[in-house]
Amino acid sequence: MITTRAPGKLYIAGEYAVVEPGHPAVLMAVDRFLTVELTEAEGRGMVHSSRYGRGPLTWVREGESIVVDHSPFDYVTAAIAIMDKLRAERGLAPRYFDLRISSELDDPSGLKFGLGSSGAVTVASIDALNRFHGLELSTWQRFQLALLATISVSPKASGGDLAASTYGGWICYTAPDRSALLALLEGGSLAEVLDAPEWGICRIAPLGEPAGITMLVGWTGTPASTERLVDRVSRPEAEVSAQYARFLEDSREAVEELVAAWGTDPSAVLAVLRRCRRLLQGLGALRGSTIETAQLGALCDLAEAAGAAGKPSGAGGGDCGIVALPDAADAQEILSRWREVGILPLDLHVNPSETEGAPA
Ligand code: PMV
Repeated sequence: MITTRAPGKLYIAGEYAVVEPGHPAVLMAVDRFLTVELTEAEGRGMVHSSRYGRGPLTWVREGESIVVDHSPFDYVTAAIAIMDKLRAERGLAPRYFDLRISSELDDPSGLKFGLGSSGAVTVASIDALNRFHGLELSTWQRFQLALLATISVSPKASGGDLAASTYGGWICYTAPDRSALLALLEGGSLAEVLDAPEWGICRIAPLGEPAGITMLVGWTGTPASTERLVDRVSRPEAEVSAQYARFLEDSREAVEELVAAWGTDPSAVLAVLRRCRRLLQGLGALRGSTIETAQLGALCDLAEAAGAAGKPSGAGGGDCGIVALPDAADAQEILSRWREVGILPLDLHVNPSETEGAPA
């Protein structure tokens, strides 16, 4: 049996802007994991899961159409398909296997925390198949394949979650142009796609520990559908709007300042994160979507009142908020206020980075 696991993730800054190629975000990998066990099978393969993927199917009306959220199993299927293409290209014999998925990223009671389970299941499945077929892929190649699998399901996904789940630690991530990659995937071999110059703007830079700051994570309920929120904010008219362009530039500037201050200047880190909160508020107002819900707003206000910085993490609309707490501030004070307003503290820490470095 082959066992692999991948950590979940949290966005620290740069969400939404990161879906545009070349715009950076900062993420952390967390110390909760999704595990994949692979065993060889005969005649057919099965995917088992006790908790992961057991949630109800979610659908909404958008205009005249019914839109169904992707099933978590779509990402597993996409990972199997891309790895089978690579296996065939390398001239290896086809074999069947069963996958058994278990996850610490969702609560036992079925609560989804938004810690990146679709990213983690893709990364852990790619890793398991890499070992099963003896492909000897590098960390970078496993990330590339996880991104190609993911965008075959969700073309707009930035892949920041995949980078955090693949590399671990604190990272600064910049996405490649996924539509260009999808176009290449249609025509060429995987070997060609993996070597294509289109990956040139994709960056995954390890950041090390932030100086003088602890991250608190609070879950505010109402899991968000990231895909729908991204659809709303990155549709073509938004791309041409001057305000959207301004948001992208402000976000880039903020993330660059954050990275520069990360290991040295806690008060600059806090100031940038407060600015990032306001940038997301502005984006929500621009596109008419609630990124900062009332609960997330309470989390941020409580943080700011205590001399810390708080912001929604990821797509918002619920899920997790993060608080960057300077070493001198009192975490207990904030945590007790969270309990009063119904925010659930999640006991999460960074999951250390893999030893093998990210590409230059
Ligand atoms: O809600 P999350 O934690 O899955 O993060 C979504 C982040 C976005 O930038 C809004 C989308 C993306 O694909 O990066």
